[in-house]
Amino acid sequence: MAKNAGCLAVFARARHLCARAYTDAMNTVVPHLFRPGDGALPPALTGRDVQQAVLSRCLADLVAGFAPPHDVVLLGPRGNGKTTLLNWFKGVCAKKSVDVVALTPRRVPMHEALAEALGPRRGIAKWLPRAAHTDLTGALTARCRRRPLAVLVDEAHTLDSKIGGTLLNVSQEVRADAPFLLVLAGTPGLPDRLREMDASFWSRLAEGLLGVGRLDDASARAALSEPLQAHGVGIDADALDAVIEHSQRYPYFIQLWGDALWKQRTTADATPIDAAAVASARPTVVAQVADYYQSRYDELRAEGVLAAAKAVAPLFQARINATAQEHELDVALAKAGIEDAAGRLLALRALNRLGYVWRPPGQMPPIAWSAGIPSLMTFVLEAGSKLGPCL
Ligand SMILES: Nc1ncnc2c1ncn2[C@@H]1O[C@H](COP(=O)(O)OP(=O)(O)OP(=O)(O)O)[C@@H](O)[C@H]1O
Ligand SMILES: [Mg+2]
Repeated sequence: MAKNAGCLAVFARARHLCARAYTDAMNTVVPHLFRPGDGALPPALTGRDVQQAVLSRCLADLVAGFAPPHDVVLLGPRGNGKTTLLNWFKGVCAKKSVDVVALTPRRVPMHEALAEALGPRRGIAKWLPRAAHTDLTGALTARCRRRPLAVLVDEAHTLDSKIGGTLLNVSQEVRADAPFLLVLAGTPGLPDRLREMDASFWSRLAEGLLGVGRLDDASARAALSEPLQAHGVGIDADALDAVIEHSQRYPYFIQLWGDALWKQRTTADATPIDAAAVASARPTVVAQVADYYQSRYDELRAEGVLAAAKAVAPLFQARINATAQEHELDVALAKAGIEDAAGRLLALRALNRLGYVWRPPGQMPPIAWSAGIPSLMTFVLEAGSKLGPCL
């Protein structure tokens, strides 16, 4: 009996040491488990099943040697994960040996950027003459017939209309004959920009128009708890509730929280994250969020729409899932003193372009507006009242 108890104690001790060594090792080798940053692939990419399924279907077409039936547009306010999705797609394309050219509009002119990006790297410099846009269709078609290609354009809301127009037309023409896919990602200002380039583009997107907004509740929780669990760290239910509430289910803030909670753990710490740990990480996160909100506030001010931003804030502020109809926004803007209808429309377009409010695509009518981040609206209202009219 005593011998058995002794064995069990030794076994339990060994198991405890192993678990501790495992946690130590994980903490040691992964200083940055979470990825607050620009397009950084998070440790758990959650809540993007629909977007990933559409992109995967397009990839399957390319692999089979067909053109997908449509281009893809990823649309969402800043910090929700558009670049992340593009990076994820780049990775899955690489696994299937589909060539990818990733561009941003800073690389102009676009056809030269394409030639440069494809030519030397792929050893096929000759296929794309550095000539007029009209040559691009033939050259791309010939090239894609040999090997499928996906072109990803991030920050597409800053595309020059002429270059963007060419790109949309070229994409349509190449897709008629060869396995080619164009993916554009941009803020909610992107539709206005694309409409300037090609009005018919929108009617051809079908399921390819995809919103990238804040996560649903289950996905937000999984984005935080799954990576912790994978490293042997639990999180108490009330601690998780507190983090999710403060994060507003906004992907960037979830990464900030995860990072702060992860970094305050000592290497030997195997206890679950509790409310006290959340309280101690909170000042770090609150300061980072305040910096972020201050820059968004400055942006609204620089664009001349701070008054409009304050006017619509009460419709959304403090309610995570609040939505509003366009006429409610219009009434709020009128009450704030923007008297003419054209001025109110311009203000609303600017707030939409900045992702302060937006209309997620794929809704059943009546189409509703949502807040980019509800707690930003509280910040805008409070910063205004504290800082006074000098701002
Ligand atoms: N599905 C997700 N789950 C958890 N975290 C995510 C998810 N998608 C993105 N993130 C994280 O959110 C942050 C912002 O992502 P990203 O830079 O891709 O946003 P964005 O929409 O491209 O923003 P911007 O418009 O400013 O370029 C990153 O830290 C990223 O790791
Ligand atoms: Mg981005």
